Amino acid sequence: MDNSIKKPSLEVPEYISTLVPYPPGKPIEELEREYGVRNPVKLASNENPIGPSPMAQRAVRQAASNLHRYPDGSGYYLKKKLSDMFSIAPEEIVLGNGSNELIDFLIRVFVRPGDEVISSSPSFLVYTKMTQIAGGKNVVIPLAEFRHDLDGINKSVTERTRLIFLDNPNNPTGSVIDRSEFASFMAGLPEDVIVVLDEAYMEFVRTERTPDATDYFRHDRRIVALRTFSKAYGLAGLRIGYGIMDREVAGYLDRVRQPFNVNNLGQIAALAALDDKAHLEATLQTTWTGMKELARSLKRLGCRIMPSETNFMLVDVGQDASKIYEAMLHRGVIIRAMGSYGFPDHIRITVGTKQENKRFIEVLEDVLNAHSQICV
Ligand SMILES: Cc1ncc(COP(=O)(O)O)c(C=O)c1O
Repeated sequence: MDNSIKKPSLEVPEYISTLVPYPPGKPIEELEREYGVRNPVKLASNENPIGPSPMAQRAVRQAASNLHRYPDGSGYYLKKKLSDMFSIAPEEIVLGNGSNELIDFLIRVFVRPGDEVISSSPSFLVYTKMTQIAGGKNVVIPLAEFRHDLDGINKSVTERTRLIFLDNPNNPTGSVIDRSEFASFMAGLPEDVIVVLDEAYMEFVRTERTPDATDYFRHDRRIVALRTFSKAYGLAGLRIGYGIMDREVAGYLDRVRQPFNVNNLGQIAALAALDDKAHLEATLQTTWTGMKELARSLKRLGCRIMPSETNFMLVDVGQDASKIYEAMLHRGVIIRAMGSYGFPDHIRITVGTKQENKRFIEVLEDVLNAHSQICV
């Protein structure tokens, strides 16, 4: 190739050139290729350890002969099923290519350049990224004691605030908002600010003390609920999520989405997964039991853990977590080092199967011994 040809310089706005690509959890195939590790364990992306629902798999296999057709752009059957499940109207539901896409829609609908979007730090990285892409201004409020600082967020609202994103439970801490705190928070907000409760992990939540936005939106049109099939329903690879919101808001999101944003197999698999109660129950039991066992073993190793209402856990390893991450990668266990989330001494682990959790603990123990330390 002739490198001497000078390319014209590209005009890219600064808010695009300064974006940092999203750091995904290392894929299993990459670890096998790069490190020569066989059968690695991935506990890095909060995926479902028992896999997709067998009923969803069957439905996808049956639908394979129809792949030459465009999907149902209105998502009729899935919206119908969700509307029955939540006792709401189909017009109050918007489907997305993962709940990620709904975050993008909300920002495209409500945020003009210079408008403000509030989120917590750390929380799900996609809120700030999409806001930056839209030319919006990110107002980022640090968590207080590992929880959303609702007072701090309230005080940061200005005339330019358009959206507030709250992941409830929060990623990466697994903490939840209290109902009473949330009620006073909403009471202090202006009428025209939309509050997005991202409930990607809500199926795992056991406490009764947190608001459920799929219910709250009926009483307050500022509230939008986001849900996904990627976690408890085990369909992360098919990219399907949904939002529940006031029908006027839903109408605006519907205007910005592409005609076939949610693919055929995603819709079909999601429908079947909602019917597969046994799979959901097995997922929850595996997660809750695994969480308890992991907590016990991690405490034995001297690690501090954050109580979590999700399928993942933030763990204080009391030392540079990136070194623990690297050492574990070489031993075939993929976790997350939380430096980029502002917790340099923490790792985040997804609860796996019994065998995966056991392997994680064995490898962590070895790695800590090799560093001749316990966690703290
Ligand atoms: C808080 C939160 N919201 C949304 C998502 C993304 O969900 P989806 O796969 O539906 O785009 C994740 C995934 O990690 C998440 O942690």
